[in-house]
Amino acid sequence: SDIYFLFSGLIGRSWAMVFAAGGFKVKLYDIAQEQLTSALENIRKQMKELKESGFLKGTLSVEQQLSLISVCADLKAAVEGATFIQECTPENLELKKKIFSQLDLVVGDNVILSSSTSCLLPSKLFTGLKHVKQCIVSHPVNPPYFVPLVEIVPHPETDPSTIERTYALMKKIGQSPVKLNRETEGFVLNRLQYAVISEAWRLVGEGVISPTDLDLVMSDGLGMRYAFIGPLETMHLNAEGISNYCKRYRDGMRLVLNTFGPVPEFSGEIEQKINQAMSEKIPSVPKVLDARRKWRDECLTGLAKLKKEMKSD
Ligand code: NAI
Repeated sequence: SDIYFLFSGLIGRSWAMVFAAGGFKVKLYDIAQEQLTSALENIRKQMKELKESGFLKGTLSVEQQLSLISVCADLKAAVEGATFIQECTPENLELKKKIFSQLDLVVGDNVILSSSTSCLLPSKLFTGLKHVKQCIVSHPVNPPYFVPLVEIVPHPETDPSTIERTYALMKKIGQSPVKLNRETEGFVLNRLQYAVISEAWRLVGEGVISPTDLDLVMSDGLGMRYAFIGPLETMHLNAEGISNYCKRYRDGMRLVLNTFGPVPEFSGEIEQKINQAMSEKIPSVPKVLDARRKWRDECLTGLAKLKKEMKSD
């Protein structure tokens, strides 16, 4: 079967687990052997915990999934026989460009070179590569094991078959791919996220609401719907269809949107105020943050289960 090749940081490990759960062979590559050893240990631990809590993905056992994952500390040997390479190095343009130019020299014409980047544009990453037609961004959401969305973003010269193959592969391993027709700063997920963050920042900054109440508006309000239907379907259902929604709310929406302030600085007094409120609730120390992340992941697993039961798509 196919072989996939990744880098073994936080996201690389998650991808490896998702691919192995889908029954694919995975080869991890990294700069240091000890990084690979600790990645394997960490994956084993995570899979066992998932098994115990009943959330291990796929139909294979922990041992079967682990046996699909191997490691290799030599780049050229690691890519041998690979059909899909998911790059997961740190978010640094120069480093990623270096990795892709190295890969460009050793791969054949059939392998897909895919990057996990959260905000580097394909035109920055891939321009000038001999294999640019085979290059694509597959941006996951952390943690990919529980949050299935993958944004597929082509370079202007990416071959349509690269897009289709990547899309099909993501479907096959149980992720939820979406295709961007062209690149745009922040892709789509972060553009939506930043729109929400900036208005949240302004509302707190203007003293309209407290930081903790602001978060509740999302987690106990908007977010309840958004876990199942997007903003456009929300419009559709909140009136007698989109056109009726526009007819009813067009003027009101425009009135509100015209009162939005400028892009925040994300610094100074407002930063301090939000930091204080967040730290009171969740002190910024590794132990507390990790416990809260663990709880978040449990919530996400529960939600994933519910979504499956509800067949929300
Ligand atoms: P990380 O720092 O956990 O992992 C990076 C890995 O790359 C480490 O294992 C490191 O040893 C390895 N590495 C460093 N230099 C290298 C080199 N020269 N050659 C080979 N390997 C090298 O980073 P993380 O969080 O896993 O992020 C990886 C990518 O995934 C980034 O592009 C990031 O933007 C993207 N991403 C991250 C998300 C997150 O929430 N952490 C979410 C979505 C995408």
